[in-house]
Amino acid sequence: MKLLTAAGLATAAFSGHALAETMAQLKQLKEASWAALNETGAFDLNRYGALRAPTSCVNGKAGEYQCSNVDLVSFLRHQDMGSSTRKGNDVWGWTSSTGREFGAVGQTDGAAFVEILADGSLVYLGRLPTQTSSSSWRDMKVIGDFVYIGSEANNHGLQVFDMKKLLAVEAGSPKVFSISSDLTAHFEGFGNSHNIVALEEKNLILAVGTGTSANCRGGLFMLDVSDPSSPKSVGCLSAGGYVHDSQCVVYTGVDSRYTGREICFNYNEDSLDITDVTSKSSPITISSTKYNGATYTHQGWLADDEMRFLLLDDELDEQKRAGPASNQRTTTYIVDVSNLEKPLFTGTYQSPAIAIDHNQYVVNGLSYQANYGSGLRIIDVRSLKTDPTGRGIREVGFFDCYPEDDSVGGRADFTGTWSVYPYFKSGNILLNSIERGVFVLKYNP
Ligand SMILES: *[C@@H]1O[C@H](CO)[C@@H](O)[C@H](O)[C@H]1NC(C)=O
Repeated sequence: MKLLTAAGLATAAFSGHALAETMAQLKQLKEASWAALNETGAFDLNRYGALRAPTSCVNGKAGEYQCSNVDLVSFLRHQDMGSSTRKGNDVWGWTSSTGREFGAVGQTDGAAFVEILADGSLVYLGRLPTQTSSSSWRDMKVIGDFVYIGSEANNHGLQVFDMKKLLAVEAGSPKVFSISSDLTAHFEGFGNSHNIVALEEKNLILAVGTGTSANCRGGLFMLDVSDPSSPKSVGCLSAGGYVHDSQCVVYTGVDSRYTGREICFNYNEDSLDITDVTSKSSPITISSTKYNGATYTHQGWLADDEMRFLLLDDELDEQKRAGPASNQRTTTYIVDVSNLEKPLFTGTYQSPAIAIDHNQYVVNGLSYQANYGSGLRIIDVRSLKTDPTGRGIREVGFFDCYPEDDSVGGRADFTGTWSVYPYFKSGNILLNSIERGVFVLKYNP
C-alpha cells in the first residue's frame, strides 16, 4: 500500500499517474539504498583495485567477476577519472571522424571523458564538472560531435560539449574543462531533468522528467539542436504527464500509416505511451497502454528492424514482487507494437539472475541489458518474430560487475550497473558501474 501523504498525493496528481509508484517515491528508495551502501564504504577512496591486465572470461570467471562469453578488456575507477564522489551513473559513446572511440562517463559530480585505444585500453582525458551541485542522476546522449548532458541537480540545465575538444588532449595530461568557457552552449530553459533522449536524424534532443519550472509536466521537452551552439525550445508533450525515458525514431516499421513520422515510445511510470512528435507544437498521443505488473515503467527499446516488437523494463516489479516478477528474476516485458494504435503485451522473458533491470539497447538482434546487481546481460531476441511469447529468447553472455551479492545469489537492489553503451563499431562495450567505475567489455561467443 502506498502512503498517501499530502506530498505523495500532489506528486501523483502532478504526474497524472495513479497506479504505479511515483518518481519521488522511487528516488527515495534509491537514495536510501545508496546511503546504506555508502555506510559499507562502497564509495571510499581506494576501495577497489585498479585493473592490471585484460582478463578473459574463463570457466565462468574474469578475475573476481562472474561472466559468460564476455571478456574484461579494461577498467578505470571513478577515482581515476577525477571524481571526488566516486559514484557513477549514465554513459554514452562518441566515435570521431577517423574512427577513434570515446566515452562520456556520468558521475554524480560531473562527466568524465575517456578514450578506448585500439588495444582496448582506457585513457582518462578529462572531465566536465556538474553545472551546479552534485546529483545521483546525470544523463547524456550524443548527436554528431556533441554531447548533451542533463542532471537532476537543481538548475543544472543542459550542457552542450564538443567532443572534438578531446582530440587535442594529450594522454597523461587530463583536462578539467570549464563549465563556462569550454561549453558550446548551456541551455537554461529547464532546470533539472531526469533523462536526455536523442533523435539523431532530426537533431532533436528531448529532455524528460524536467522539473516544474520547465512547465512541461515532466513530459517531452523538445530542443532543436541543428545549431549546437544555440539549442531552441520547439515544443513540449505533456499530455501523458511525467515521462521517465523514451526512444524516438523516424518510423520505418510495419505500421505504414506512420511511415516517416517522428515516433517516440515513452516509458511513463505506469504505461507505455506511443506518441507522434512530428509536429512539435501539437504532438499527438497515439496510444497509452498499461500492463499487469506495472510498478515503475522505466525504459525500453525496439527489438527488430521492422519495429514489430519492443522490450520494456519495469524498474520496481522485481523489488516489489509484482506480477510476473514475483520471483525477483529480472523480467523483461515483450510488446508487439506492429499496430502503434494497439500495442499488445505478448509475454515476458526472465533472466536466470535475480536483479533489477535498468537500461537496455538492442543492436542486431541482441539486447544489451544493464541489470544493476547482475551486470551486463546479453540476450538474443531474434526469435520474437516467430514466437512473441518470449520463450525463444536466450541469454548468450553476461558480465556481472557487482560480486558483492554473488554469495546470496543476487539481490533486487539498486547496486552495480547503471548503463551500457553497445554501439561502437569495434565491438567494445562500455559499462558504467555505480560503485566501481567504467569497464570496457567484449562479447566473445
Ligand atoms: C558518503 O557519506 C559521506 C559521509 O556522510 C558523504 O560525505 C559522501 O558524500 C557520501 N558519498 C556518497 C557517494 O553518497
